[in-house]
Amino acid sequence: MARNPYFDILFEPVRIGPVTTKNRFYQVPHATAHGYKMPNAHAGVRAIKAEGGWGVVNTDLVSIHPTSDDAPFPYLTIWDDADIAAHALMVEKVHEHGALAGIELWHGGASVANLFSREAPMGAESGRATYNDPVQSRIVNKSDIKEIRKWYVAAARRGKTAGFDIIYVYATHDYLIHSFLSSKRNFRSDEYGGSVENRVRLLRELIEDVKNVVGDTCAVAVRFCADDGASRNNTIRDGSVPEVEEQKEMLSILAELPDLWDLNVSDYSFEMGSSRFVKEASLENYVSYVKSITSKPVVSVGRFTSPDTMVAQVKSGIVDLIGAARPSIADPFLPNKINEGREDEIRECIGCNICWAHDNRNAPIRCTQNPTMGEEWRRGWHPEKIGPKKSDDEILIVGAGPAGIEAAVSLGKRGYHVYLAEATRELGGRVSKESKLPTLSEWNRVYEYRFIQLEKLDNVEVYRESKTTVDDILEMGLPHVVFATGASWRKDGFGLLNTQPILPQISNNRIFTPDDIMNGHYPTGRALIFDDDHYYMGSVIAEKLIEQGCQVDFVSTFSNVAAWTRHTVEQERIQERLINLGVNIIPSRNLKAFDGNRVTLECVYTGSEEEIQVDGLVMITARIPNDDLYYGLASQAEALSAAGIKSLARIGDCLAPGIIASAVFSGHKFAREFDEPDPGDVPFKRERNVVGL
Ligand SMILES: Cc1cc2nc3c(=O)[nH]c(=O)nc-3n(C[C@H](O)[C@H](O)[C@H](O)COP(=O)(O)O)c2cc1C
Ligand code: SF4
Repeated sequence: MARNPYFDILFEPVRIGPVTTKNRFYQVPHATAHGYKMPNAHAGVRAIKAEGGWGVVNTDLVSIHPTSDDAPFPYLTIWDDADIAAHALMVEKVHEHGALAGIELWHGGASVANLFSREAPMGAESGRATYNDPVQSRIVNKSDIKEIRKWYVAAARRGKTAGFDIIYVYATHDYLIHSFLSSKRNFRSDEYGGSVENRVRLLRELIEDVKNVVGDTCAVAVRFCADDGASRNNTIRDGSVPEVEEQKEMLSILAELPDLWDLNVSDYSFEMGSSRFVKEASLENYVSYVKSITSKPVVSVGRFTSPDTMVAQVKSGIVDLIGAARPSIADPFLPNKINEGREDEIRECIGCNICWAHDNRNAPIRCTQNPTMGEEWRRGWHPEKIGPKKSDDEILIVGAGPAGIEAAVSLGKRGYHVYLAEATRELGGRVSKESKLPTLSEWNRVYEYRFIQLEKLDNVEVYRESKTTVDDILEMGLPHVVFATGASWRKDGFGLLNTQPILPQISNNRIFTPDDIMNGHYPTGRALIFDDDHYYMGSVIAEKLIEQGCQVDFVSTFSNVAAWTRHTVEQERIQERLINLGVNIIPSRNLKAFDGNRVTLECVYTGSEEEIQVDGLVMITARIPNDDLYYGLASQAEALSAAGIKSLARIGDCLAPGIIASAVFSGHKFAREFDEPDPGDVPFKRERNVVGL
């Protein structure tokens, strides 16, 4: 299909110093957690983005020196010449597709604890390491500054040797250079502290140094925070007023020095905000002033997935380039789809921050929407291509939740004839239900994207309101049956802390689960949520109950609510929201008993007990796989063989309840591996260290 001419502007080339990008699609630096130990996997991610049409593809942050070591998190290095080859691998693959390659040169300053190198961290001041290690940085002195400038120059030279087109000076996110710029971090009395002129000195010197050594062939970009939020303690909330006066002064001094300005804000939970709290293009008010100060191209971010929004950003003069991390992770082929008039096929990021959560947990990148993300090299998966079918066998999939629908679409694309049977009228399973809970509406994109794909596949037949029984399946006699029947929330209290049920009398009609709430059965009056799950569900159920007019107590076995969401950069915002909604948070308590009227709680530290009178109890602890149908068939070997059924399989929550990303991955993996040779014990390639010197 032809491109919609309205989007032509997005495909205009943009000059960035000595180089030119073929279009305005700019993958900003983002980590993949492959780090220096997995260069092939890292190059695989970047190659696929270039193939998908991104004009510029950047690295993760890349450490320039052992004094900037992000351990325990994986990170890239350009410490010496031996690191060049790994970067050249990525550059070569990015160039093959006509994209520019950029490298983000990083010094972590006082934010890192240097747990690997054991060097003392360095900062404008002696600050605490960000991740709460009991470590402080040493104060950078004048001779350190000389060294830092040398390290940057050496790293930039190596970047140029590796073939990069864009070299970053990374001056935000609280790292070393930002600590000099920020009035919250820099209290120095020398020429690098005090006035704005002094605080930008280090950044100015570094831009000039890097330009001097690589500026003839490489563009020099600066990542800079356009709003430093000093008086808001960094938090941008609805209605916050941009705080840009100092940043304006800094930009006025430096405006024409680099070849490109890459802008963010200092509140990471806003810059990379989850869709629960931050909507598309939310940085606009905070960065829009910059283009009036500089003539250099400007890029910024905002979870851009709508081509209309992208055009509006360029036409209204906010940015020249559309920066994207998560949209490029969810759909590496986003630019090509717009270019080919296939906007309806964009796999839109849902803003769940599972990608970041895994970076934050030292695990290779993954994505809820894109099950191939991070699997390009090690499993050879491509987000837009899948191998053809190997037989004419037909497949029945029972359950059209995230796993079932993903398996149906992927098997359908391989050419198999698939029957997708769903017990209810609505497809999408847990995704459709959960996305109706407060703040989760964008999660329904997981279903919407797949539904559009399903509609295009004549070989996938969908049967709604088909509650399938053992006899139905035997009667159909299709050779392969896949169970994607999901999981149900438990009522009995079994969870993370309680490895035994604590409420055996589960018939009590004052005990509810998230499934009850999602099916429209609510407690009334005073409702107590018991959360031993610690992800998002407890907090969205709390909001739902408040909407329903309940008075809500939120009991957690942990010391804060939704503790796991610290990995998705949401925990503080969730806790703030619940406090503002008037939810009574009761931390560090376990549930001992419930008699229908009174809940007995126990302090997890002291064992002391207290009772609370409530009208309803909502249990958010763990789920049980809905696998009765599977076992009902699996136990009938003879009947299966008589019916011609060759294989039974479980996928998604029916196999092992987990996050939505795991369900989608499970469905996709099943489709990829179906009818293929056994991949063996280790179904993916691994990168190995060289043994010896
Ligand atoms: C998984 C992940 C890793 C990131 N790693 C980096 C990084 O290494 N360096 C950096 O400057 N920003 C990093 N970011 C922030 C992004 O560059 C970007 O500013 C942010 O995600 C907002 O853009 P988006 O809405 O397009 O995702 C990361 C973001 C994500 C999602
Ligand atoms: S994991 Fe979630 S936030 Fe990250 S890119 Fe995928 S859909 Fe978007």
